[in-house]
Amino acid sequence: MCGIVGYIGKDNAKDVIIDGLKKLEYRGYDSAGIAVVRNGKLEIKKHVGGIANLENLIGDDPMTSHIGIGHTRWATHGAPSDLNAHPHSNEDETIAIIHNGIIENYQELKQELIEKHNIKFKSETDTEVIAQLIGVIYKEKKDLLESVFAAEEKMRGAYAIVAVAQDEPDKIVAVRKDAPLIVGLGKGSNFIASDIPALLKYVKEIYLIENNETVLATADEVKIFDENRNEIKREVFHVTWDADSAEKEGFEHFMLKEIYEQPKGLSETLNRRLDETGKINLEGITLTKEQIENFSKIYIVACGTAYHAGLVGKYIIEQLVKIPVEVDVASEFRYRNPLVDENTLFIAISQSGETLDTLAALREAKSKGARVLSVVNVVGSSVARESDDVFYTWAGPEIAVASTKAYTTQLMCMYMLALYMGLEKGTITREFYDRFIKDLQGIPAKLETFLKKAPEIEEEAKQLYNREQVFFIGRGLDSAVSYEGSLKLKEISYINSFAIAAGELKHGTIALMEPGTLVIALACQDFLYEKMVSNIQEIKARGAYVMAVAKEGNVSIEAQSDRMIYIPECRDEIAPLISVVPLQLFAYYVAKERGCNIDKPKNLAKSVTVE
Ligand code: M6R
Repeated sequence: MCGIVGYIGKDNAKDVIIDGLKKLEYRGYDSAGIAVVRNGKLEIKKHVGGIANLENLIGDDPMTSHIGIGHTRWATHGAPSDLNAHPHSNEDETIAIIHNGIIENYQELKQELIEKHNIKFKSETDTEVIAQLIGVIYKEKKDLLESVFAAEEKMRGAYAIVAVAQDEPDKIVAVRKDAPLIVGLGKGSNFIASDIPALLKYVKEIYLIENNETVLATADEVKIFDENRNEIKREVFHVTWDADSAEKEGFEHFMLKEIYEQPKGLSETLNRRLDETGKINLEGITLTKEQIENFSKIYIVACGTAYHAGLVGKYIIEQLVKIPVEVDVASEFRYRNPLVDENTLFIAISQSGETLDTLAALREAKSKGARVLSVVNVVGSSVARESDDVFYTWAGPEIAVASTKAYTTQLMCMYMLALYMGLEKGTITREFYDRFIKDLQGIPAKLETFLKKAPEIEEEAKQLYNREQVFFIGRGLDSAVSYEGSLKLKEISYINSFAIAAGELKHGTIALMEPGTLVIALACQDFLYEKMVSNIQEIKARGAYVMAVAKEGNVSIEAQSDRMIYIPECRDEIAPLISVVPLQLFAYYVAKERGCNIDKPKNLAKSVTVE
C-alpha cells in the first residue's frame, strides 16, 4: 500500500521525508517521490523502484526547504513508472499532491477537466486528476485550504490526500476519507503521515484523523476541520509502541495482521468492482460475451496457495458457467503438452505476479493461442504485464511468506469471474446473481465476527502444538480448503501435515490412523454434511482425535468430535472464504507455540522467481 509523509518545520524537509518513507518500505511499493518548495518554487523528484533510486536521482542536492511531501506508491491506476509515481502536480506545476486510495469518479472528472479547461494530463493516475482539479479551483480561490475543500465536494472514493502550493509555502493541507492519515505534533515542526512508523523517530504525540476531516498544518499549529468545515478539537494520542510493533500495527507478526486484514481486502476486492446496480464492472478486462460463449475449456494454473484458490475456482466456474475447468500446478503444466487452443481461457493466479513457474505456464498457453487472464495482487508485475486481461485482487501488500489475505481475495475474484461469465453466458439468472452478490457482500462482517473467536483457536493450538503429524480432511469445496490449511500449517510450524478428500481416506490413508492422531475435519458443505459425519465416524473408530470445523447450527457433529470450531452460517459455495480462517489461525498459533520464525519460515521466500 502507498505511504505518505509530509513535513513542515525547522529541519530540512527532504531529510525528514526520505527517512519517514524508508520506515514505510515494509508495506511494499513500486516507486517513490518527493516535492518541496525551495526559494518560492515547487520542485518534484520521483522515480520508479526503491527509495534508493529516488536518492540516486536527488544525488547531493540538499533540496533545502522547510516544507515538503513524499510518497511511496503501490500502483493501482497505471503501471509503476516515473510518470505515474507521486507527487503529481497541476499544469503549471505550482501545486503538488500525494494520495493513497482511489478516486472512483476520476474518469468523469478527467473528462470534465479536459473538455472545460483543456488540461493535458501527463500520467495515467487518478491522483493527477486531483492535482489538476485543485489547480483549476486554485486559480479562482487563491487559497489552498479553500481549494481542497471545494475539490472534496467533487471527488468520490476512499482516499487520503496531502497537498502543498508553491504560493503558500507555510502550509500543508491534508484530507482523510476512508484511508489512514495521522498528524505528528512536534515543537516548531508538524508532520503528516499515513502510518505511525514514519514518524516515531520524531514524535510520539499524534492526532488520529477521522474520515471526512481536513487538516491545515503550519510549522506551529495544526487545525482540523469536520465535513462542514467547522474547526474541531482532537485529543492527543500518545504512541507507546516501538518502531517494530508499529509497523505491524500492534500485531505480533505480519501474518496475524494480514489474517485480520481479510475482511477489508475482501470488501475492497468486491465492492470496488460493483456498479450502482450491483453489476460487476470488469474495468481493464475486455472479455466479450462472444468469447465467453466460445470457450470450450478453462485452465487455472498457479502454485502453492494460489493453486488452492484455483481448486475453488474450478468448482465454482464449472457450476456457474458450465465450462470444463482443469486446475494445474504451474511447474507441471508446461511439461505435459497441455491441450490448449484458441478456444481456451487460461487463468493464472499469483499474489506476487513474479512466480517463474506460473509465468512460464502462461507463456506456454499464450504461445498456443489461449486467451490469458490473470488474477494478481501486484500491479505491473510480470504476470500482469504478459496477460491479455488482469483481475487485480485488492489485498494490499502481503509481507508474511505464508499467504493468507491473498488467498481469500483470490477466491473472491474466482466468485466474481464465475458470476460475471455466468450472467453473460446466460447460465445463471439475474436473480441468482443478485442473491449471490448479496451473500458475498455479507462475508466481511461475518469474518469480523468470526475473528473474535481467535482466542479459542489459540487455546486449541496450545493443547495440540506438539503433534508430529496432522491430517486435514473435507469433501467438495471443504477438501480444497483442507489443502490450504495443511500447507499453512506445514510451512510455518514445520509439522508434517497432509490433506486428503475425506471419502478417499478409506482407500489407503486410513491405515495411518492411530489412537490420538490429530485430524482437522471440515464439514462446512451442507449437502455433504451427513457424508462427512460418516467419514469422521470412520476415523474416530480408529482412535483419531478430531477437531471439526462446521457451520453454526450443525451441532450433530459434536458427538463425533473432540473439539469444535463453528463458523457463521453462509451458503455452501462461499464457505471457503470463512472456513479457511480458523485453519490460518490454527497454523499461526501452533507455529507461535513452537517458537518458529512465523513471517519468514526456513527455506522459503515470498516470491519464487526460480524454477
Ligand atoms: O506469488 P504467488 O501467489 O505466485 O506464489 C505462489 C506460491 O509460491 C505461494 O502461494 C506459496 O505457496 C506461499 N508460501 C503459501 O503460503
